[in-house]
Amino acid sequence: MNHSKINQDNWNAQLYDGKHGFVSKHGSRLIELLEPKKGEVILDLGCGTGDLANDLFNSGVNVVGVDKSENMIEQARMKYPEISFYAADATELTYDHEFDAVFSNAVLHWVKPPHKALACIYLSLKNGGRFVAEFGGKGNVQTIIDEIIDQIKQNGNPFKEENFPWFYPSIAEYTALMEEVGFRVTFAQHFDRPTLLEGENGLRNWVEMFAGSLLKDMMESEKESILTNVENNLREKIYEDGQWVADYKRIRVIGIK
Ligand code: BEZ
Repeated sequence: MNHSKINQDNWNAQLYDGKHGFVSKHGSRLIELLEPKKGEVILDLGCGTGDLANDLFNSGVNVVGVDKSENMIEQARMKYPEISFYAADATELTYDHEFDAVFSNAVLHWVKPPHKALACIYLSLKNGGRFVAEFGGKGNVQTIIDEIIDQIKQNGNPFKEENFPWFYPSIAEYTALMEEVGFRVTFAQHFDRPTLLEGENGLRNWVEMFAGSLLKDMMESEKESILTNVENNLREKIYEDGQWVADYKRIRVIGIK
């Protein structure tokens, strides 16, 4: 594997750890689905700042963490110096028959084209190895996205499809892609997982951290007014008992090589 340097990096690792720690908290349930065994060699694909890789390490796994973001990898190395972390793009992995399992939490909805990542994941597994992943599925955060796009249009701007950063497939779409690269799909699930966005500014923080590219052609003043309108309009839909609750929809899959 050539761990080459990734250039563009929009991720703020401190903000991610500080305000969006729920991402790895939810991941511990995916570890249960992974059923890691002592001594297995496991790739954590899209490891962020390394919390789940560290959980795997503590359960006796030989874990390697990979993330596209240099900022995240730098932070992961500082937090967990005993674990190997590398910056690499999921569509350009060059591992070949090296892992007993590839594990990926809350990342693959950022990765395009998905079949290229799946082909790399498949190649990186030993024969009989497993791929266990969870990420945003069809309809994920639809209420929030619809409102942002509505506001962009109401401000007199066109919405550019190329600014949409995510891939939210249905089970049918994703498992078909898995089968195309060779996986035997043994498990697939699509479910609602309402997700608390902590604090009064939870929605705004989420949009700023994750959905910046939707607003990337706007001036600062336009962004600010869009954010305010999004908050005002979504309050009656997704603000409950003093908390913002995002309409996350996940898919979970297991594929065997
Ligand atoms: C997700 O985990 O589903 C997600 C996180 C940030 C932005 C969009 C989706």
